[in-house]
Amino acid sequence: MLQDVRGYQLDTSSSACVENFDKAVARFFEFRLDAVEYADAAISADPDCSMAQLLKGYMLMGAQSRNLLPVVAEHIAKAEAKPGGLTQRAKGWLAGLKALSANDLPHASKVLGQHMAEWPLDLFVLKQLHQQTLFWRGKSLDLRDSVLRVSHAWDKDVVGFGHYLGMLGFGYEEAGEYEKAEMCGRAALQHSPEDLWAVHTVAHVLEMQGRHKDGIEWINYPLNAWDDRAPLARHIWWHKALFLWDSGSYDETLALYDSAVYPAPSTAYIDVQNAAALLWRLEMTGVDVGSRWHALAGQAEATMDDQLLAFTESHVSAALAKAGRSEALAKQRQQLAERADGEGWAANLASEVSIPLADAFAAYTMGDYEKACDGLLASREEWVRVGGSHAQRDLYTQVLVDSAVKAGRRKLAESLLAERGVQHPNSAGLQYWRRQLAA
Ligand SMILES: [Fe+2]
Repeated sequence: MLQDVRGYQLDTSSSACVENFDKAVARFFEFRLDAVEYADAAISADPDCSMAQLLKGYMLMGAQSRNLLPVVAEHIAKAEAKPGGLTQRAKGWLAGLKALSANDLPHASKVLGQHMAEWPLDLFVLKQLHQQTLFWRGKSLDLRDSVLRVSHAWDKDVVGFGHYLGMLGFGYEEAGEYEKAEMCGRAALQHSPEDLWAVHTVAHVLEMQGRHKDGIEWINYPLNAWDDRAPLARHIWWHKALFLWDSGSYDETLALYDSAVYPAPSTAYIDVQNAAALLWRLEMTGVDVGSRWHALAGQAEATMDDQLLAFTESHVSAALAKAGRSEALAKQRQQLAERADGEGWAANLASEVSIPLADAFAAYTMGDYEKACDGLLASREEWVRVGGSHAQRDLYTQVLVDSAVKAGRRKLAESLLAERGVQHPNSAGLQYWRRQLAA
């Protein structure tokens, strides 16, 4: 049995399989589109390597697509059929992927967390734990702590140390420890200059600290800089668009939407999230976004049965509501209601977060700002459970602020703007709402 680049056993005797496995993981951490090709090459070199089969399965799960679940199941079946049985390490990978593909993110968190205690250098699993199971449940503190729990095993000589730091930095950011977060993010890039996640980590710090000018300078790259690294690349352009929007540069924000954030029709989950969240912000501050909602809603409707993440679903709701696609909105509402009638984590999420958000967006777009306001206020404490980052979920808060202003609920609006004034003091949006309230 051979070892991977961090010295952990891989259940193969093919050096070509190991080489491609390591390359796939390395390319995955740079968000390169060809990562999956290296995973395929590892499987081709040794189809009986269960770890290679599971690696591909995890990579497919990253698309957050229900349509891909049968393909993931095939990789799971091939891994389980390993002649002679699975190694302990592979058993951990398998348990995590099974839970993930069953959309049981809490259980996936548990088994992947246990795995990391046994295999603290298993960088790929750490990423799955971090991003797939904690991030998409809004576990802000665990995003930090899950990485700290393996810190005893990591130092600068371990391959992938920069990626470890990039994750730790993001964990610190979501936990509100911005100084440490920025330090880790910048140090990560010293070790792994191509770590797009570390670029993203620093962007989040700058967003949360309201450093819009620094953010615009931070994401100062040619538009084609990351063409082989979509879709995270487009999310980083979304962050730049947020900095521009926060600065009041609405024309530039809209131009960036067209050139880099949503340059072509896409049903990729992160593109739908980015696009809806940006168009809503722009329109909220008085910008005419033309026919963009209709173009986006067409894609959102086409993909609504495929989306796995509740966070994406809320953005689908937003796009459908804004484009006036009442039939599709009703269909989505029905799907959410059926899920809410079930049991467990996904059912609770649908009933306590997804449905209130969908209803609030629908009410807002129908001009019923009172209803939007009440629905958002009632569900506000639960939003975090839908996952995503603080910066992403801020859209919900902004819709609440705007609803309060538009509904003429002055005391509530003043209170929300007071909070926002401390957290986002330099935001053009804040000034806009203050002007609206004073008018
Ligand atoms: Fe982000």
